[in-house]
Amino acid sequence: MADTKTFLEEKDIPKSWYNIAPDLPAPLPPALHPGTKQPAGPDDFAPIFPMALIGQEVSREREIPIPEEVREVYRLWRPTPLYRAHRLEKALDTPARIYYKYEGVSPAGSHKPNTAVAQAYFNKAEGVKRLATETGAGQWGSALAFACRIFGLECKVYMVKASYFQKPYRRSMMETWGATVVPSPSQDTRSGRSILARDPETPGSLGIAISEAVEDAATHDDTKYSLGSVLNHVLMHQTVIGQECKAQFEKLGVYPDVVIGCVGGGSSFAGIAFPFIRDKLGGKKVQFIAVEPEACPSITQGKYVYDFGDTAELTPLVKMYTLGHTFVPPAIHAGGLRYHGMAPLISLLCSLRIIEARAVHQNAVFGAAVFFARHEGIVPAPEPAHAIKVAIEEAVKCKETGQAKTILFNLCGHGHFDMSAYDAYLAGRLEDYAYPKAEVEKALAGVPKL
Ligand SMILES: Cc1ncc(COP(=O)(O)O)c(C=O)c1O
Repeated sequence: MADTKTFLEEKDIPKSWYNIAPDLPAPLPPALHPGTKQPAGPDDFAPIFPMALIGQEVSREREIPIPEEVREVYRLWRPTPLYRAHRLEKALDTPARIYYKYEGVSPAGSHKPNTAVAQAYFNKAEGVKRLATETGAGQWGSALAFACRIFGLECKVYMVKASYFQKPYRRSMMETWGATVVPSPSQDTRSGRSILARDPETPGSLGIAISEAVEDAATHDDTKYSLGSVLNHVLMHQTVIGQECKAQFEKLGVYPDVVIGCVGGGSSFAGIAFPFIRDKLGGKKVQFIAVEPEACPSITQGKYVYDFGDTAELTPLVKMYTLGHTFVPPAIHAGGLRYHGMAPLISLLCSLRIIEARAVHQNAVFGAAVFFARHEGIVPAPEPAHAIKVAIEEAVKCKETGQAKTILFNLCGHGHFDMSAYDAYLAGRLEDYAYPKAEVEKALAGVPKL
């Protein structure tokens, strides 16, 4: 039998991040200043981001070197293993070969530290003392809390209220690394207070928490803002995943036919997919599937227009698939996928049909997660369980057609802090929210007209 795990050595940790910008077949529409609606320049971002990250955001260099200090921290968990899902294949009785890249081995339990460590490093290098951020599932907040601890920065996390109460131990974990965590919307910011005044029972959303964290950074001289997804440089930091994957496949003499990942803001998907999309743009035949929740279907039901990244309209406008920046998604258990928009890079690639998107309901997702756990052992986070659901669908299709495709998905986090969701699923208490059409229409009506 072929090996179950393929490893690389620490010396094989990538030495640069892959920047897809120069390889795009069409230019990425620029971010616009929220006030003037003109293309935003580096100075517009300077109050909330360090110059090094602003430079990466607009860079046209294909390879951006990873500082040795960052690679040194990556060594704590990278390179991550590539698994062959032998037991899952057997259980599905499929001729497909299924592989998954497992990012749950990081200290925070997901792919998020790949960018958190880089962001903390570049902020520290420019004299920043404190970082403010939002977190949905708690994975990103944990990653940044860990990274801030490593580089001696203070960390303030605005945690979406629904997740704060669904996942109390994520908060404990962030506090263990020394971060301060508040449920969002909070009383600590003007935008939080105004949303609470209008709707004291709101479950919160990533859009609201982003407004709070951006406001925090803009109103404290020693503080910058850190975002766990969506932005070009964040997606780029995640390409260590796909680069390692390619090296692992080379060792095996295999190349994937289908690459699958979940999408919230798009960073884990970009991380695994972009290095392979580079080959597709060079002529190779590969299929890419981005999977999102039916309750928050940014790509499959959203519009590709300019919109704000946050609820309070503090961020620049970016062109992306969006459900409208005031849309508050239902409190589904994949908290990391409750975002109204999508990364501009992923949006552009979807609009060009280089990537396709699918939406799935959470009961089907948890069904796939439990099936996976019972055969492969690992209990996945609800977000990558979306990718598992579609990977299983594709493998079942192979059984029907007799094709022996190679399927790769990103198992971008474990679900050890998500057991209340598993409890709800196992007790038959998990609700499938229909696509909230009326709410989305209302929110889309509020998208700025340019
Ligand atoms: C485990 C996990 N996967 C996926 C996501 C979604 O974010 P992204 O699309 O940027 O990977 C999150 C976000 O919090 C997450 O925690």
